Amino acid sequence: MSRKIKLTVSLDVLPKEEWTKDEDELVRQAKIAVEKAYAPYSNFMVGAAVMLENGEIFSGNNQENVSFPVGICAERSVLSFAMANFPDVRPIKIVIVAKRRNDNIWATVTPCGLCRQTINEYEIKFGHAIEIMMLSPEEQLLKASGIDQLLPFRFNDLNG
Ligand code: THU
Repeated sequence: MSRKIKLTVSLDVLPKEEWTKDEDELVRQAKIAVEKAYAPYSNFMVGAAVMLENGEIFSGNNQENVSFPVGICAERSVLSFAMANFPDVRPIKIVIVAKRRNDNIWATVTPCGLCRQTINEYEIKFGHAIEIMMLSPEEQLLKASGIDQLLPFRFNDLNG
């Protein structure tokens, strides 16, 4: 008899008043980064800020290319920088903000599949979940407690 395997996922919706000091600072830095995005082809600007376990914050943004697939998302750009320079320091949370050029409302963005797989990789590397937070148009943070909430049934074990 066939049966179903079901996974339930959820996001926490955090109003501004409930953000921690770290979340405030991550949003602030992601908003600075989004303005520096290089997105002349899509005009969709994305900024991301990641906090490492030692409290350091790094930010990045999307960098597009005339050969479209060459472009890199904000999440992978900042994670690559942080992990290239601080390979032993665990990323604990990442905030993502996005907007269309010349719009003054935030666009809803959740990480693309490649970025989800990248976040998954650093969860595997450090054996710990990474919080993923997305700024909503209402300026609330949509918080996933880990990549399992965004990428259920993901590929995460070569030997299992
Ligand atoms: N993009 C990101 O940087 N992060 C996401 O989570 C979604 C998409 C970028 C890729 C491309 O430069 C532009 O947004 C439009 O897809």
